[in-house]
Amino acid sequence: TDDKTFVIAIDGPAASGKGTLARKLAAHFDYALLDTGALYRAVGLNVARHGGDPEKEADAVAAARALGDMDLSDPAIRGESTGALASKVAAIPAVRDILLAFQRDFAESPPGGKTGAILDGRDIGTVVCPDADVKIYIIADVETRAKRRFLEQYGPNGTEAQYEAILADLVQRDARDMNRSTAPLKPAKNAHLLDTTNSDIEAVFEAALGLISKEQANV
Ligand code: DC
Repeated sequence: TDDKTFVIAIDGPAASGKGTLARKLAAHFDYALLDTGALYRAVGLNVARHGGDPEKEADAVAAARALGDMDLSDPAIRGESTGALASKVAAIPAVRDILLAFQRDFAESPPGGKTGAILDGRDIGTVVCPDADVKIYIIADVETRAKRRFLEQYGPNGTEAQYEAILADLVQRDARDMNRSTAPLKPAKNAHLLDTTNSDIEAVFEAALGLISKEQANV
């Protein structure tokens, strides 16, 4: 119907390019954008700053409940070590529960009166927005993702050891995100798979536009 928000779900592993794609699509369509990884990152960072253990339910739940007081624009949220903390708190079902309502509200009533919402994460198409209008699942070889993240963080003069550390972190994070029992990372049945291993962001953006335009013509 006309008054329903158009929802785009973008899921995929760490450093797959889903954040970049989500930002480009949000700008293109003037839709509201929610980086759901930032929520888990803020929770993980908050646990660490209070000297807590990200794998301990009581610590992680207390941090998740305090999410409203956290600054999601804090640059420390983006760091690689925060990604690992986020992945740990994200494996705790009670933490996921607390963040679920906020994410669903965002999709149903996006801020700023926008007519559409784009959410990127791990479980948007499977759990948060199972009825999303378009579901995209982005993949890329882990070595390719590590190389991108490495160049982003260290530029052309990074060391082999720095690359290896990023690769190891991604391998570990993939395993934790895919193998947890609650809302693991996996494609929704009706998700469109986009492999970014051999394509740049422009090509991925064009492919996504094609999928979305087709769906918009149907609503
Ligand atoms: O997308 P990201 O790398 O910023 O996410 C950080 C971690 O947060 C990720 O490793 C797993 C968790 N996460 C999640 O479990 N579910 C989401 N919808 C988004 C992120």
